[in-house]
Amino acid sequence: MAKFKFRINRFDPDRKDRGHYMQEYELEVPKGYTVLDCLNDIKWKIDGTLTYRRSCRSGICGSCAMTINGVNNLACESQVYALGGDTINVEPLRGYPVIKDLVISLDPLVKGLLAVKPFMITRTPPPSDQERLQSPEDRDKLEGLYECILCGSCTSSCPSFWADKEYIGPHAFLKAYRFVADSRDESPREHLAALDDKHGVWRCHTIFNCVEACPKSLNPTKAISELKKEIVRQKLG
Ligand code: F3S
Repeated sequence: MAKFKFRINRFDPDRKDRGHYMQEYELEVPKGYTVLDCLNDIKWKIDGTLTYRRSCRSGICGSCAMTINGVNNLACESQVYALGGDTINVEPLRGYPVIKDLVISLDPLVKGLLAVKPFMITRTPPPSDQERLQSPEDRDKLEGLYECILCGSCTSSCPSFWADKEYIGPHAFLKAYRFVADSRDESPREHLAALDDKHGVWRCHTIFNCVEACPKSLNPTKAISELKKEIVRQKLG
């Protein structure tokens, strides 16, 4: 057990005159606690007004993505003792509108996602007696593409998104490529349509922040480069 100081972003939409400020809380933290465990302790024992998103506690839902000591991560996967130092800064993900304290608006994230039609598009009727099948080799091509939990950490870390709020974002590019690369999808063009645009893949300058920020160790930059190649291939017929 050791004492840690948490400096947490506070913002109350009903007190906009106060703006954003950092509020400090001191907490005795047992070994093995995550940042999410500490936020829960603060909310349940010290200050019930503290507001943040959380759900699964298992790195699956993406709800508790936030900026911890300047790095985007899931609070439920951030071990307090592994962060180094006894002061921990907790802020909402950068680049998104803040609704309250650590809660961001997910609207930009959803807008980017919808632009790429994030679902399998088919034209032929499905087989009557089984689901649409693919070979093990084709299934292997989806490794590293389908695991995204849509936490928003990648897009929040991207300077192209900071500069252009209409930028579709690496989270959506990864999702688009997940379907473009799927042998069962029968209309890759429909996923690509929105990407060949000034807010699409050409605004990516291969900065790689998105790769560093992904808590699931995925590689949106590689997907973006594959999408660029695919768009060029289609243009060349
Ligand atoms: Fe942004 Fe990632 Fe490209 S950080 S500029 S989407 S490589």
